[in-house]
Amino acid sequence: MNIKTAIPDAAPLVLSLRSVGYTLESAIADIVDNSITAKATEIYIDVKWSNEFAYISVCDNGYGMNEEDLHQAMKIGSKNPMDSRDRDDLGRFGMGLKTAAFSLCKRLTVGSKLATSAMSVRVWDIDNIMISNRWELFDDSLTLAWQHALNRLSNYKQGTIVVMEKLDRLITENYSNQSISRFWQRIAEMEKHLSMVFHRFLIGAQALHIFINGKRIEPWDPFMRQSLATQEFREEYLECNGGSIRVHGFILPHHSKMSLSEYEEIGGISGWMEQQGFYVYRNKRLIVPGTWFKMLRKNEPGQLARIQLDLTGDMDFEWKIDVKKSSAAPPSVLRESIRRIARTTQEASRKVYFFRGATINQKNKTEDNEAIWEQASIRGRTYFKLNRHYALLKDVCSELPEDSLKKLNVYFSLVEGFAPMNVSLMRPFSNEMNYSEELVNSAMKFYNDLMNVGYSSSEALGKVLQISIYEGLSEVIKGKLKH
Ligand SMILES: Nc1ncnc2c1ncn2[C@@H]1O[C@H](COP(=O)(O)OP(=O)(O)OP(=O)(O)O)[C@@H](O)[C@H]1O
Ligand SMILES: [Mg+2]
Repeated sequence: MNIKTAIPDAAPLVLSLRSVGYTLESAIADIVDNSITAKATEIYIDVKWSNEFAYISVCDNGYGMNEEDLHQAMKIGSKNPMDSRDRDDLGRFGMGLKTAAFSLCKRLTVGSKLATSAMSVRVWDIDNIMISNRWELFDDSLTLAWQHALNRLSNYKQGTIVVMEKLDRLITENYSNQSISRFWQRIAEMEKHLSMVFHRFLIGAQALHIFINGKRIEPWDPFMRQSLATQEFREEYLECNGGSIRVHGFILPHHSKMSLSEYEEIGGISGWMEQQGFYVYRNKRLIVPGTWFKMLRKNEPGQLARIQLDLTGDMDFEWKIDVKKSSAAPPSVLRESIRRIARTTQEASRKVYFFRGATINQKNKTEDNEAIWEQASIRGRTYFKLNRHYALLKDVCSELPEDSLKKLNVYFSLVEGFAPMNVSLMRPFSNEMNYSEELVNSAMKFYNDLMNVGYSSSEALGKVLQISIYEGLSEVIKGKLKH
């Protein structure tokens, strides 16, 4: 038996790598990852599009590379994904730099220097690979864009600059007023994404500074930690294969406790509803901004629930982290615990969402009389009713004659019965025989109250049976009325 080698052809492979699914945002974030791993304290992202040239560059003052390391770094698969890495390394696959860049551009130039060495340069040009069908790297570049971009690196003694030219995947239109404004719109979205993904690096005394065209980006904290109205669960740790995963749940403040601009801001890139759930961080870098891992559905009342989940780089395979660092899935041994945390947090969010200002634990319990709605349940059927002790309501009621008070109370019962959240919250009984006396009595009392304020028997019965909480009781109630 002989061994034959089958080396992939350069041209088709490089073309396929262009389509692994990066977006502009995720590609730039992957390149920024490398700068952070290299201990940069400043990262300058420059985006240029003019009649002369177009490029995006990412320049850092990290520890840089010598010529040999740079050459290795430019290879597809420059490191073995199985190798163990430093605790704070944001890389894993030895692919990111190349795949991220190729998904945006056809020409990737990287210049790097150590504090003790001159700059080395390596260039991949896909047009050249297409012609030669070989992995040919250039060791210098003479393009105008490269000369222009390089100014950034000259400010530093050490560091790395990644320059992407021939941005054919990003710039697909001719240079015009409309296309330029669409382009800058995308760059603004990219800025928001970076503020979110790297927010934990952008705060504190040792804060990393990231600039886009000279403007420093601000951190976006999904948990509104600075707000007094944000409620927190106690941190907990999930143990898995010798590793420990930190989980910290937050319930964001009710919308009524935010200004309109705060509401817009905290909603995040994808909006309140989408951004609920677990925020998966890998070595402090956000990978997934809001997911229930297909265990729960995202819903309106759950939108205040956000949970920080901290993974380390040695959990990559257990959690199925992908090359783009944009997806993760919990290992099966942890699914039960994760599901429990998800349910508890979503339920707490629901309380705050409906029950303006409700607290999720006894520690912070506010005066109940401040709430407009309160939660009640009859034999497992939960619903919301108006807080009859609300000060303003008590005031009004004390001034009303007996007769009007009765009518008002019946009206309130109707409001409660037909309130949309009660309709959507009700879980109908699967078995009609399963009804409770208490529920039937409550329906009968409501029927009588309606009759007392002037409804006919059939109108009153109709109203009672339309209310979700009494769903399934039709025959029982009709039976009672016959006696
Ligand atoms: N800005 C930088 N400063 C210093 N070294 C860098 C920089 N960018 C890349 N490197 C080196 O190049 C290597 C390859 O980078 P690349 O992003 O392709 O893969 P990775 O970071 O190792 O893994 P991943 O595919 O998960 O991102 C890195 O491991 C690092 O050694
Ligand atoms: Mg990388």
